[in-house]
Amino acid sequence: MADLGFDGKVAIITGAGGGLGRSHALDLARRGALVVVNDLGGASDGTGHSETAAQKVVDEIKAAGGEAVASYDSVATPEGGAAIVETAVDAFGRVDIIVNNAGILRDTSFKNMTPEQVNPVLDVHLRGAFYVTQPAWQRMRDQGYGRIVNTSSAAGIFGNFGQTNYGAAKMGLVGLTRVLAVEGAKNNIKANAIAPVAKTRMTEELFGAAMDQLTPELVTPVVTYLAHEDCSVSGEVYSVGGGRVARVFVGVTPGHYAPELSAEDVRDNLDKIRAEDGYAVPGDLNEEMMLAFKAFSSSSS
Ligand code: NAI
Repeated sequence: MADLGFDGKVAIITGAGGGLGRSHALDLARRGALVVVNDLGGASDGTGHSETAAQKVVDEIKAAGGEAVASYDSVATPEGGAAIVETAVDAFGRVDIIVNNAGILRDTSFKNMTPEQVNPVLDVHLRGAFYVTQPAWQRMRDQGYGRIVNTSSAAGIFGNFGQTNYGAAKMGLVGLTRVLAVEGAKNNIKANAIAPVAKTRMTEELFGAAMDQLTPELVTPVVTYLAHEDCSVSGEVYSVGGGRVARVFVGVTPGHYAPELSAEDVRDNLDKIRAEDGYAVPGDLNEEMMLAFKAFSSSSS
């Protein structure tokens, strides 16, 4: 089959001055996309600001024969998000792809977590995805085309010590992704998320030298596929790192039904309620409701 090309498609990649975002930007540009390389150029905790990081990646793309423009706006405000989308429209006339990738860390145990650690993390990861995606949404609806890739994390999906702020933001992105998939379906807008693992400045202390195979370049292929016209899925989450890619999903067990459910029923049937055999993976809220209705109706018939 032919390689996945992006000729003429316009992609915004936030936080693309380094790490995963840089790798995504280089790959999409190499495949013919016109890329907005957005990066605030701050430190890992979100402090500071510099234009160097985004500009360097733009220079790399241009040196390789690709097309890109730099954007130094922050994703963490509505004005910043609007300016990022405006940069794409001014330079290239449209927006087809948004990769919400910008991120910061302010880890500490929940006991010690302060608003200064919670709010900036929610602003960059979760609100940032709203602020960048929303100004492009109506354009995507009007053109009947859009691809959105959000960057979630195992820290939120599965849990990780010291990351209540980050985990909440990252699982919030799963909810955003699922609802965008539902709302975008009729206009050929697909939204998916990744939960990546890669050695970047964000994780280098965690992984150390032993994990050199966890390169950003082994995460990017999933982003590239999900950003492509041929992407056949929406509302899904993929765990990716070191060359392994796997689907993460939210499932529901067959459960237990009692017309007059009591707390004692819950206690006495907990194993059955939790048993994973025969689980379902609802595509949206309505499909989950249907499962509940089925339980009532099969017991009353
Ligand atoms: P990184 O620190 O190299 O990249 C994040 C980039 O976002 C930085 O270049 C930073 O300047 C930029 N950024 C931060 N705040 C911004 C703002 N307000 N506006 C615009 N840009 C901003 O780290 P990495 O690892 O490449 O992270 C990329 C994404 O992947 C993040 O969302 C991170 O949470 C996520 N992630 C990474 C994992 C890993 O193993 N590296 C694991 C799970 C998730």
